[in-house]
This record gives sequence, structure tokens and C-alpha cells, in this order.
Amino acid sequence: MKLLKTLLASAVTVSAMPALAYEAGDILVKAGAVHVAPKDNNANASAVVPNTKLDVQSDTQLGLTAVYMVTPKVGVELLAATPFEHEVEADGGALDGATIATTKHLPPTVSAQYYPLEAGSKLQPYVGLGINHTFFFDEEDDANIGTGSLKPSWGLSYSVGVDYMVNDQWLVNAAMWKMDIDTEIRGGAADGLEVEIDPLVIMVGGGMKF
Ligand code: NI
Repeated sequence: MKLLKTLLASAVTVSAMPALAYEAGDILVKAGAVHVAPKDNNANASAVVPNTKLDVQSDTQLGLTAVYMVTPKVGVELLAATPFEHEVEADGGALDGATIATTKHLPPTVSAQYYPLEAGSKLQPYVGLGINHTFFFDEEDDANIGTGSLKPSWGLSYSVGVDYMVNDQWLVNAAMWKMDIDTEIRGGAADGLEVEIDPLVIMVGGGMKF
């Protein structure tokens, strides 16, 4: 009887404790739609085609983030995605509105994150600072003007996001990264031309805590 009482008492104590949202050692895996929206006017191509700027168009893919909680308030996040494909459009000049080139890229990003709220909170906003590496592939010379290839880029990434724990296992997430992605055309008519992509990356999805 005494044992039963003790067991009951400890069961009540455990159920009365608020479930911790995040603890050191937790792994959060999230998936969703991720949208890469480059800034406007990514390059000035006037030296190749007079009065022409280049605009890199946006794209949406499947995004995946994995977070390892080092402490209840500090996480390390990896962002990955299926390859993005961007059309590069001429703005102004003789080729105005034409698609000049197409490129694919992958922008893996590792960030250190800080979660300011208490571990018991179901709502967990965070900020992050990280490093992005973007590499380009499958560059296509759509207008046959010899567009060359694109140099890989390393740059900083600033992020904000929020998780909401639906229950102890499932969560919903919205996140945004501002990435410094600058590249350069290698080879072709515009060899050496600098291209600043500097996109806003937005992801909305859901995930699980392990
Ligand atoms: Ni930049």
C-alpha cells in the first residue's frame, strides 16, 4: 500500500510538471516549402549588352532544416533544400524581358541559434547567425550570348524564426534568412561580371522533435 501511494504520488508529480519544449540534446527536423527571392538588379551587364541590368528570378523548393539543441536556448541549424532553379532575365537594352541564362544552385547554411524564451514555452522564437555556401551548376546559355558559369559563394546569413509546439513531438515552423550571396561570371562574353543575389529565403513547414 505504501508503495502504491508512493507510485501514485510520483505519477501526479510527473504529470503536473510542464513539458519542456526544448532540452539539450534534442534534435528538431523540419520540412516545408522554401522560397528564395533574390534582391532586384543583380548585375549591371551594360558592358556586354548596352543599358542592360540582370534580374535573377525567384524559385520555391522543398526545404529541410535540422537543429541540434546544445542547451535549451542555443541550437545549431543546418538548412538544406532540393536544388533551386533561377532564370536570369535582362532588364532594359535590346534584350529587355528575355531570359538570358538559367542556373541551378544549392545554398547549404549552418547557423548558431538563440532561443530567448523559457524552455517551458510552447512558442519558441529564435534568431540565428550563420555561414552560407552556395554553389551553382547546370548553367544554361538561353540567349546564346555566351553566359559562362558562376563562381561559388561564401557569405553570412542572418535568420529569424518561430517554432510552435503543437504537442510534445510535433511542431509548426516559419523562418526567414537574409543571405549574402555574391558570385561572378566565369568565362563567356561577361567574364568577371559580378552578380549580387543577396536573397531573402522564407520557409514555412512542420517538424518533429526527437
Ligand atoms: Ni552581397
